[in-house]
Amino acid sequence: MSKKKLYIACIGAGYVGGPTMSVIAKHCPEIDVEVVDVNKDRINAWNDSNLDNLPVYEPGLKEVIQKARGRNLFFTTDVKGAIERADIIFISVNTPTKVYGEGKGMAADLKYVELCTRQIAKYSNGDKIVVEKSTLPVRTAESIRRILEAEDSKHSFTVLSNPEFLAEGTAIDDLENADRVLIGSDETPFGLSALEKISSIYEHWLPKERVLKTNVWSSELSKLTANAMLAQRVSSINAISALCEQTGADVAEISHAIGMDSRIGSKFLNASVGFGGSCFQKDILNLTYLCRYFNLPEVAEYWEQVVKMNDYQKNRFANNIIKTLFNTVSGKKISFLGWAFKKDTNDTRESAAIYVADKLLQDRAEIHVYDPKVNSEQVIQDLLYLQKYRFVNNHDFESLPEEEVRDLVKVYNDPYSALKDAHAIAILTEWDEFKSYNWQEIYDNMHKPAFVFDGRNILTRTMMSKIGFKYQGIGSAE
Ligand code: NAD
Ligand code: UGA
Repeated sequence: MSKKKLYIACIGAGYVGGPTMSVIAKHCPEIDVEVVDVNKDRINAWNDSNLDNLPVYEPGLKEVIQKARGRNLFFTTDVKGAIERADIIFISVNTPTKVYGEGKGMAADLKYVELCTRQIAKYSNGDKIVVEKSTLPVRTAESIRRILEAEDSKHSFTVLSNPEFLAEGTAIDDLENADRVLIGSDETPFGLSALEKISSIYEHWLPKERVLKTNVWSSELSKLTANAMLAQRVSSINAISALCEQTGADVAEISHAIGMDSRIGSKFLNASVGFGGSCFQKDILNLTYLCRYFNLPEVAEYWEQVVKMNDYQKNRFANNIIKTLFNTVSGKKISFLGWAFKKDTNDTRESAAIYVADKLLQDRAEIHVYDPKVNSEQVIQDLLYLQKYRFVNNHDFESLPEEEVRDLVKVYNDPYSALKDAHAIAILTEWDEFKSYNWQEIYDNMHKPAFVFDGRNILTRTMMSKIGFKYQGIGSAE
């Protein structure tokens, strides 16, 4: 008798659902994978025959899509059909910081997860394995299970946790060569058999030893802990960068020196204008909220400091621009190289660039932006969104009318136009192409003194000073 075909549905076709399911489909041709989303435009973009129009930019993603799409990988808005067909349902929807009500500015907003759960209960026509792929507060699996059981008593459900550790910009490589895959299940026979099923999917391309099996709560909390520890490293080195600027020590030399200690390790020690991305801040705030909920205020404060240090770093960078430009940027052209939160992604969520621009706009600077992967409307929307939902540190900030934001902020398709006649350049993202620009030509076309604020330390002081720039990196004195 031939083995019954396995069907996977993934709810949420975003930065995680899209790439993760594509890699599963690529390596498991015998499994049908359907990625569903309520956002029609996003699904249309995933189905676009021109692979340059995929909604997510990730190196290597196009090749994976080309291989699997239409064969055993499908993108659809048919949530009901996908749930009905699926044996395994991954929940990969967004879990942003709440912007209203109880826990506003701290807790994870779980409304999308709950909605998904209720859809699963409504459309299930048999027993289902439900897998948390989204990053969730510890013990969310229990709430999911309770809702499923209350809404649908005819079928059995088991809820597993399988958090995702990919980083944007390297998502495909991170998935193909994952350091580890983590799966948490309960001890019931259904839970344990589901655990083996999920594990066998990953074992199509990863060695068995890299699939870690834990209880559900450890799995959920490992994800928040991993992000908190990674962000903590960035905040720690950024804290030291401030001290370097006062003392003549060089943070790059310090990162190198401490990173050679195998107990510390060399990764994630690049001082920067501050970490961004949709997850670090959100997950730490969520962790902090959980600690307060469980009456652990000291633990909450400890982790909250990582976010506070990051705010300090972004603020420090913007203030330094204002101070260096003779205490006023009003009417001055400040050109931004980069808007995405890191290189090799079109994602701008929580990018440091947004905060720095917001601060400079308070002083009515003109911001001229070039980013190889971010379009004009995205930049404007990011700024308007921040003005609407400022939670941390920024209570005395003014929100500018939309027309004024549109008037003060210009976005270019060509870097040289963005940089022409600038009073200062701020490097906000570490895109490789910035290094190979004709910096002499850029200098010749700028107001003097020509200031460069390198928030990513991608250029060298010697080269820039030789041309004539007044160059400031992060964590080294002039
Ligand atoms: P995203 O916003 O890019 O995608 C989420 C998608 O879910 C959206 O397209 C949205 O329309 C869809 N959605 C929401 N509710 C739905 C519903 N009821 N039915 C169908 N579709 C629905 O988010 P993301 O970046 O992919 O993140 C998803 C989760 O993964 C988050 O919890 C995040 O913390 C976690 N995570 C993200 C990353 C990352 O690099 N972005 C890495 C690891 C983990
Ligand atoms: C991060 C984690 O690295 C992933 O493991 C995790 O799955 C993901 O969050 C998530 O849960 O969303 P991501 O945010 O995509 O991935 O990218 P990172 O490479 O971690 O960078 C985050 C931010 O920190 C970026 O703004 C980056 O520029 C900054 N960073 C990183 C530094 O400033 N210095 C460093 O040394 C490293």
